[in-house]
Amino acid sequence: MRLKGRVAIITGASSGVGYATARAFAREGATVIVAARRRDRLDHLVAEIAGEGHQGFSIPTDITDPAQVQRLIDQTVSLLGRIDILVNCAGGVLKISPIEQFTDSDWRTIIDTNLSGTFFATRSVVPYMKRQRSGTIVNLGSRVGRVGIANITPFSAAKFALAGLSQALAQELRPHNIYVTNIVAGMINSDLGPLNPDESLRRRLITTDDIAQAILWVCTLPPSLRVDELPVMPRQVDL
Ligand SMILES: NC(=O)c1ccc[n+]([C@@H]2O[C@H](COP(=O)([O-])OP(=O)(O)OC[C@H]3O[C@@H](n4cnc5c(N)ncnc54)[C@H](OP(=O)(O)O)[C@@H]3O)[C@@H](O)[C@H]2O)c1
Repeated sequence: MRLKGRVAIITGASSGVGYATARAFAREGATVIVAARRRDRLDHLVAEIAGEGHQGFSIPTDITDPAQVQRLIDQTVSLLGRIDILVNCAGGVLKISPIEQFTDSDWRTIIDTNLSGTFFATRSVVPYMKRQRSGTIVNLGSRVGRVGIANITPFSAAKFALAGLSQALAQELRPHNIYVTNIVAGMINSDLGPLNPDESLRRRLITTDDIAQAILWVCTLPPSLRVDELPVMPRQVDL
């Protein structure tokens, strides 16, 4: 029970990496607050967690709306009195297209979901973590936030910016005993539409459970260690 007594907020928890991370954290004794837009998926997750004898609460949240994000953080503190971990998993590619086919609205959606949402959640959680003088924030970055990839230009740009946000925050928050890690992940076998790898490729990708274990490791580091950035790749695929 490596997270016994800890409170963790996980955004993007209705599927994929966030879902697997919420399950893994709950099994390690954390009380998890799961957030995303799809209420039914969150309720299903909370029921699964309760079925295993652990504790979770769902707070449906659109991460692109700063008022909803502030409410998520405030409600968590009213309910549980503290926030030890924030995992920013909400994200999305939206579409694969040449640049001229991305509309203004596509651009804003991708930037808001993958970058602004993490900014909103972090800005809202930090005052509580500073008061506690402890906290861990994990951001779901991407290999495409280190190497630009054609036809997902706005997503790649958002993940590059997320790497910068994470690095600057890591420096800013360390004196407050708050640690920030950017997970620079290669391709994961999730439902991150419209990436739709065929079955044989899917089998060679990182599993959501494996990423959840990497996130868990970051949240249970010994006190002598910090990890500002954690690159993780599938063993046999350079994607
Ligand atoms: N899959 C990959 O290959 C890969 C590689 C590197 C990094 N990542 C990153 O890993 C993270 C998780 O992705 P995944 O692969 O697990 O994909 P996923 O299964 O599609 O999960 C994305 C999650 O983000 C949530 N989300 C999207 N827009 C949202 C919004 N406006 N407000 C709140 N939640 C929102 C979705 O929930 P709702 O639709 O219910 O809101 C969903 O739970 C993302 O940040 C992604 O960029 C993925």
